[in-house]
Order: sequence, then structure tokens, then C-alpha cells
Amino acid sequence: MRKKIVAGNWKMNLTLAQGEQLINDILQAGLKLEEGQEVVVATPFPYLLKAKSLLKNYPGFYVAAQNCYSEKSGAYTGEVSAEMLQSIGVDYVILGHSERREYFQESNAMLAKKIDQVLANGLKPIFCCGEPLAIRQAETQNDYVAKQLEESLYHLTVEQLKNVVIAYEPIWAIGTGLTASSAQAQDMHAFIRSQIANKFGREAALHTSILYGGSAKPGNAGELFGCADVDGGLIGGASLVAADFVAIIQKLS
Ligand code: PGA
Repeated sequence: MRKKIVAGNWKMNLTLAQGEQLINDILQAGLKLEEGQEVVVATPFPYLLKAKSLLKNYPGFYVAAQNCYSEKSGAYTGEVSAEMLQSIGVDYVILGHSERREYFQESNAMLAKKIDQVLANGLKPIFCCGEPLAIRQAETQNDYVAKQLEESLYHLTVEQLKNVVIAYEPIWAIGTGLTASSAQAQDMHAFIRSQIANKFGREAALHTSILYGGSAKPGNAGELFGCADVDGGLIGGASLVAADFVAIIQKLS
């Protein structure tokens, strides 16, 4: 009913040759994706075209950028627009990763504009949300994530929302080796889905893929993906090792 997705977020890692090797190694595994399953590779900007051409004959494999700018075009030296990404065949754009929020001061309001650009160009945002450790310890994570959803997504129409993928990434679990337990992940994913249902209706909520991210690896992916409201994963570190990434994809079914 809703797509099951494993997306690899390479972040600022690998040379072109290493990235090419990684994609070839993943393809070499001969994965047979089932109907409704997708694999997404989010490479650095300079490798997107290459990644797209390596994956073009592999149904179910897609390419994502890790960011784009909030304006359509113009004098924004160093930035990359959604239209540019669309023009080279990119499928998805990760938006609002906690590293972008922290190191590049991306606010919920700015992300709302980025989402508009991505959707206006026919691309699909993978919208990241998730709380820092202090918020989790204060047990106010639901309010925190609700506000992120509200300020970045609630201006969309139901039709637009259908093209949005949400990734829940508790910041305390990213790159730390700490993973949310499957119960913590399921609780938050169910909460996010209920928020989406309240705003956009049950039907839209049931069709929204919600991915988990944060130290997901072959050893815990099966349990996480087994949760009713977890529709796959956004994978950082483990997506840089072909065998691990492939093993995680295999946990989808
Ligand atoms: P991690 O990163 O898997 O290395 O924790 C996840 C992410 O930041 O998307």
C-alpha cells in the first residue's frame, strides 16, 4: 500500500571512484526488489549524474540529492536549485537533515520553502525530523516533532503531501551507535502518522512512508522494519559499506 524504502545517505564521504565502486557492488548483489520496494542512493551533488546513469536499468533504484536551495534561481553563489536537480534526473531530495539544521541553521520555515521548490519541480522530498537528546530526556519529543511537521509540512495540500516521504531520525541516535529501540521508533512513527492523519486525513496518512534513521545496521534493521509504522530506513554510516547496505535492504521483506 505504501512504499517501503531504504535510502543511503552518503553525507560528505567518498570520491567519485569510490562511489562508483559502491554502487556497482550494491548492484552486483542482484537484489530482487518486490513491488512497492525502493532503494535510494543520496550521493554528494557532483556524483548524482553518474549515480543516475549507473542505476538507470535497475527498476526500483533511485537517486537523491542531500539538499537543495529554497529559491527558484538567481544570485545565490554556491547553491543548487531543485530545478537543476530535476533537469539531471534526480528523483528525491533529502531535506531538513539534523546536520543541515545544526551546522547550516536550517529552520522549519526555510525547510517549508525548500519543500515547495522540490515539489514544484516534480521531485520528492525526504523530510527529516527528530529530537535532540535533551528533548528525549525531558520526554517532550512528541511536541518537538509535531512542531517540525507543522511548520514545514502543514501548508501543503493533500495532493502534495502524497509525494512527501518522512524520515524520523532521533538526533541522539545519528552516528552514535545508539539506536532507538523498536518500541521507541514505533511509538514515534505511529505518533507522526496520527498527526498526518489529523491534518491531511487518514487516507493520506496511510499512504505516507515514514522511514527510521539513526545507527540502523544489518543487526537491528529487521526488528525496526518489522514495526507496523516503520516503512524502511534512512541509513548513514552503514550505507557506505555495500555488504551492510545490501543486508539492510534485504530486511525490507
Ligand atoms: P547513521 O546516520 O545511520 O550513520 O546514524 C543516519 C542519518 O544521518 O541519516
